[in-house]
Amino acid sequence: MRKKVTVVGGGFVGATAAQRIADAGLADVVLTDILDGVPAGKGLDMLEAMPILRSDARVEGVSTQGGDYSATAGSAVVVITAGFARKPGMSRDDLVKANYAVVKDVTEAVARLSPEAILMVVTNPLDVMCQVAYRASKFPKNRVIGMAGVLDSARMRAFIATEMCVSVENVHAFVLGGHGDDMVPLPRYSTVAGIPLPELLPKERIEAIVQRTRKGGGEIVNLLKTGSAYYAPSAAVYEMVDAILRDRKKILPCSAYLEGEYGIQGLFMGVPVKLGAQGIEQVVEIKLTPDEQAALDKSAASVREVVNLLNL
Ligand code: 2OP
Repeated sequence: MRKKVTVVGGGFVGATAAQRIADAGLADVVLTDILDGVPAGKGLDMLEAMPILRSDARVEGVSTQGGDYSATAGSAVVVITAGFARKPGMSRDDLVKANYAVVKDVTEAVARLSPEAILMVVTNPLDVMCQVAYRASKFPKNRVIGMAGVLDSARMRAFIATEMCVSVENVHAFVLGGHGDDMVPLPRYSTVAGIPLPELLPKERIEAIVQRTRKGGGEIVNLLKTGSAYYAPSAAVYEMVDAILRDRKKILPCSAYLEGEYGIQGLFMGVPVKLGAQGIEQVVEIKLTPDEQAALDKSAASVREVVNLLNL
């Protein structure tokens, strides 16, 4: 029997993630949204594409407007993309509080119906919303994972591959820390065909790539004007769901609950993890230079400041 993946939130990120999972036949997909009609319409549209794409995945879109999440029961993975984007006049704190309520309610509902699921949080501010889902679900820490590092490192890989005119498959990049302007791209651990970046590019080119990676989400928002990125975020969700459902034990940068690793206590932060059937099966600790550790500590302080706003 194919496993079930629920995607909560039928906006661009959620719907595109659902599409990627269904198109590949990775799992049956339930797409939910608070709107009436929209998730059912998108789900049906995707289902009707399956014969052309030769995928036997079942796709169903359901509205949770009345609070009925029963269609999500027994999911192996629940991807949470629901939440508000910042609107004019809204402060960052307003956004945090609005999305806190959404993520808390959604998590409580899906956790009740899928007690063995792995929760994958996508809603921003990412690392803080992971903390909300962790508390609200009461799931063990290996089953609450944030999607950010795969996206941020994919951006860095794309920039490196373009700069050096090489295949993206030759490029690995590591980005640690929170999903914000303080994230910590690590050139020393970023390689082209195994060769560390500092041996291939001058300092100023590396710095330009690091800065562009940090501001990657904002660059897209500034171009789109009415929304944020979804092609790369949904691809990142797909890679993580694939690693879990196929038990691939892939080492990927994800937001994980840290209890002392990297010197960080009681906080979700982006770190390399081994992702498999149990969710986060290991946090991989790499040796950081004092400068890199200081950058990670600064990023952790930014995340903790927002967590403290919510008294989590
Ligand atoms: C991004 O980085 C908005 O977090 C999203 O594109």
